[in-house]
Parts: sequence; C-alpha cells; structure tokens
Amino acid sequence: MFRPEDDQAMLDRPTRWQSYVVPQGWEIFTAEDHSVWDLLFARQVELLGSRVVSPFLDGIDLLRLSHPGIPELSELNAILEPRTGWRTVAVPGLVPDAIFFAMLAERVFPVGNFIRTREQLDYLEAPDCFHDLFGHIPMLAHHDFAEMVEHVGRLGQAAIGAGEGHRVAELYWHSVEFGLAMEAGELKILGAGLASSFGESHFSLESKEVGRLPFSVELAVHTPYRHDAFQPRYLVSRSLESTVDAILGLTPSRLLDL
Ligand SMILES: [Fe+2]
Repeated sequence: MFRPEDDQAMLDRPTRWQSYVVPQGWEIFTAEDHSVWDLLFARQVELLGSRVVSPFLDGIDLLRLSHPGIPELSELNAILEPRTGWRTVAVPGLVPDAIFFAMLAERVFPVGNFIRTREQLDYLEAPDCFHDLFGHIPMLAHHDFAEMVEHVGRLGQAAIGAGEGHRVAELYWHSVEFGLAMEAGELKILGAGLASSFGESHFSLESKEVGRLPFSVELAVHTPYRHDAFQPRYLVSRSLESTVDAILGLTPSRLLDL
C-alpha cells in the first residue's frame, strides 16, 4: 500500500503552524515567576549532578541557562539559532500533535509562555516553560541530536498523514522525553521529561520496580506510555549516538511497517 519512493513526499509536508505562536510576554513575568524559575533551576541542577548525558550539561552552559530568571526567548535564540538552526517560539499551552511535529520539522521548538506556581512545583497539568526550556533546549544545541529531533518532526508529519501518528508519539516519548542512555558505562538520563522532573529523574535511574529495556525503534514504536504517572518501563539507548543513528535511518515506509 505504501511505496518507499513515496518517502520523500511524505517527509516534505508543509503544515501551517504559525498561527499557534504568541508573544512570550517576558516583560509580564513577575518577580515571583522569576524566583520560581531560579528555585526550580537550582534544585534540578543539584539533583541531576552528573546523572544526565554530558551534552545536556554542555548545553546548559552554552546557552547560559544558569543566568538568573526565566530566559528571554529572543536572547536564547541569538545563541541557539546560529549554532544548530533551532529556535524557540512561545505558545499558550500544548499544541496539537500535527502542529507540534510540523514545528519540529522546521527546527522550531514551542515553549509554554507560562511557569508553574510555587504551590505546584512538582505537579503540572501541561508543560510550562521550565519543562520546555530546561528539559529540551540544552540537547537542541547538540548538532546530531538537533538533526534527529528535526527528523522526528518530519516522520511525525508523515505518520499523521498516514493515520498512524501514535507511532511517532511513542518513538518521541521513549527517546526525546523519557529515554535513558548509557554513557561511559553508566546509565544516564537522556529525555527532557526526566531531566526536568524532580521525582522521576532519580526514580528512572534507581527504582528496582521498573523495567529498563534496550532501546530500538521497533520497541519504542510498540511500547505504550503513561502521561499521568511515572513510566512503568524505560528504554535505554546503547549510546546517544546509536539512538540518533537509528532514528535518522528511519524512513516513513519503514516506520509504518514496524
Ligand atoms: Fe516535553
């Protein structure tokens, strides 16, 4: 039903996402908002230590995310865009999957234009700017990972076009959001959902009650995920590079055949 020669057309599907973008409104963040960011940032850096893949820590330094206060997207983009071609835009909350993947396909990362309150430090209904910026943006300064996430966006558009969007949602979830990876013989956090989570970062590495299975695109695509609780299982990449290679090597036709 699906021919490999259709792959290129499937990967090149422009979708209009621009109407979802809103101003960041950085000037209307309050002193309290900035202090919540500072608290979350300090707490999470301390908690992660070296439990996260090293390009994540390099990205934090490179993008000067340790600068106090919520980052201003235009300032962040001035560093990020010349480096990997990625840029951030503000959105008011979760965007539909088709819009999200269309943004990724153009190296645009949506960032919530709000931050949780002090009373909600560890519980979030929708990803806020701490999750989006602290969790995701450091890895988008890494050239190979940046290329991989763009490809996930293009695969997402292709899969949604074929009525199989859940396949890419699962792939994305088990790599970019909740993936673990080996690095120099140690188990590390790779995914943004883990890197930005107070409770699940340690749980994912240390709990004896969860499954940790070797990452493959086949397994990722067929492993359901939870978005209302900690994951019952995590997929562990042999290395960051091996996951990048596996995802970059995935064509729409193979994804739909898995
Ligand atoms: Fe996320």
